Amino acid sequence: MNNFIYDIPTKVYFGKGMIEGNLGNELKKYGKNVLLTYGGGSIKKSGLYDRVKSEIESAGLKMFELSGIEPNPRIESVRAGVKICKEEHIDVVLAVGGGSTLDCSKWICAGAKVDFDPWDFFSEKWADLNGALPLITVLTLSATGSEMDAGGVITNLSTNEKQGRIHHDLYPKVSFLDPTITYSVGKFQTAAGSADIFNHIIETYFTREDGMYMLDAFMEGLMRTVVKYAPVAIKEPENYEARANLMWTSSWAINGFIGMDKRKAWSCHPLEHELSAFYDITHGLGLAIITPRWLRYCLNKDTLYKYVTYGVNVFGIDPSLPPERIADLAIEKTSEFLTKTLGLPGSLSEIGIGEENFKIMAKKACEGDVIDGFVPLRADDIVKIYKMCE
Ligand code: NZQ
Ligand code: ZN
Repeated sequence: MNNFIYDIPTKVYFGKGMIEGNLGNELKKYGKNVLLTYGGGSIKKSGLYDRVKSEIESAGLKMFELSGIEPNPRIESVRAGVKICKEEHIDVVLAVGGGSTLDCSKWICAGAKVDFDPWDFFSEKWADLNGALPLITVLTLSATGSEMDAGGVITNLSTNEKQGRIHHDLYPKVSFLDPTITYSVGKFQTAAGSADIFNHIIETYFTREDGMYMLDAFMEGLMRTVVKYAPVAIKEPENYEARANLMWTSSWAINGFIGMDKRKAWSCHPLEHELSAFYDITHGLGLAIITPRWLRYCLNKDTLYKYVTYGVNVFGIDPSLPPERIADLAIEKTSEFLTKTLGLPGSLSEIGIGEENFKIMAKKACEGDVIDGFVPLRADDIVKIYKMCE
């Protein structure tokens, strides 16, 4: 077991109706001027915009807005938000949306505190943060866990780059998680979000570090939760139990609890971020295609034992079968869950992606060196995995 520090500063309000009477009070603690950020308009259709606005107004706060934050949020939106923060002396940012709106808002909060262009946080300059404005979030889609983590991923389409970075200053101060808000998420985004949650757990579970039985058991429980409830949420969008389980699992998959003991790099995410950077695809969809192939690629006599516990404890495969058979079945069941059960496309060719950029994407994914994850991956390994996804 490794040493670690567990320090999560995000206060969570979970459940139906928790926004009312609480959001305004929380915002008020940080100042008078609020920048409300959101995406392409789902919050207006669902009525959430009016609920949030009424909280801001009844708390006597002044509201400014940044709308139109894109899925795979662009650096241009970060720049637009930073400009408003500086011009209007914003005290607190309120992000209402999915991971894209939350991530974009995190970097707006950081960008508001510096004089340089926010892309410098990511470009080879990797500029230091100088603190960040406080961020409060209202989550509308269960997927990324951005509501309770310190990461944010930004896309620069002009350079085909999608870069993520983690910093303690980026944790939301408060997050509102009301599962009923996710009733309006359609089948595809529910499936893609569930694939994302599932993969966040896989990335941590499949590691070469052992000795934390408690965390492995916790992760198996989280994965079983996604397997049980994602299909329910797809069939019955207004099933509270399913939406609530997915929402809380999305937070715990990435809020540091399961990952604290682990030191190995994630593998599927860098491969997927290149797909999104080059083809602007939905993150969870990319992961659904990559995950079973990556599992297949990493299976060898040294890693086999991990597939056995995964197969038995997550998918209920008969433990008396030979280990190699359990591992094969575990990979098949993963693929079946992500494509047949969730209804997501199962290959790159199905979404119109060919091999033209495999080499350059592979080089970027491992930054010209190696992804030191479950199994170390160099550019030629990554090309092979992309080819398995064709
Ligand atoms: O923009 P609106 O109109 O709100 O519509 C969104 C968007 O079109 C829609 N949506 C969201 N909530 C809805 C809804 N539609 C109906 N009802 C609702 N309640 O869903 C679409 C996708 O939204 P988006 O925010 O892009 O999805 P997601 O939450 O999956 O976020 C994806 C982004 O997060 C990054 C991904 O790379 C991607 O850029 N990630 C962030 C992470 C983090 N911060 O830790 C980790 C993840 O691994 C991931 O990389
Ligand atoms: Zn993800």
